[in-house]
Amino acid sequence: MIGIKSIDIEHKHLVDFVNMVERSGIESHARLMDSKLISSIRTLFHNHFIKEEDLMFRIKYPELNSHMMEHSKMLTDLDVLISNFNITGQAAPVTVFISDWIVDHMKTMDFPIAQFIKAATAMRQKAATTNQSSTKSPIQKRPNS
Ligand SMILES: [Fe+2]
Ligand SMILES: [Fe+2]
Repeated sequence: MIGIKSIDIEHKHLVDFVNMVERSGIESHARLMDSKLISSIRTLFHNHFIKEEDLMFRIKYPELNSHMMEHSKMLTDLDVLISNFNITGQAAPVTVFISDWIVDHMKTMDFPIAQFIKAATAMRQKAATTNQSSTKSPIQKRPNS
């Protein structure tokens, strides 16, 4: 849990899905070999990254570019592992990579987003009480989205 409800719900969904794939991979490689299941993992992560990047853009998150590069690298690495899986039928490298990646990424890269929002909100509230200025949320609407 990083402390942003919409992102936490998606992270839980991703972790649950990866766990489900891991279990099905152990029970039956044939099931994991279903290309729909594999592409679902990639689509879920891709969609999650788009939402998270949109949030970072709206809050003017200073680490947006490096975070986006990390997401992009993850998808590139995942594509390589999925290609290898399609050849070897070895599921573990895919599921282990995803499980390790998501835990580390949430801790080191997603959690600081929540910290940034918390700090920005506290600063605005402080400014509002001292200057009687706006208490608007730091999350702004992204143009054309
Ligand atoms: Fe992220
Ligand atoms: Fe995330």
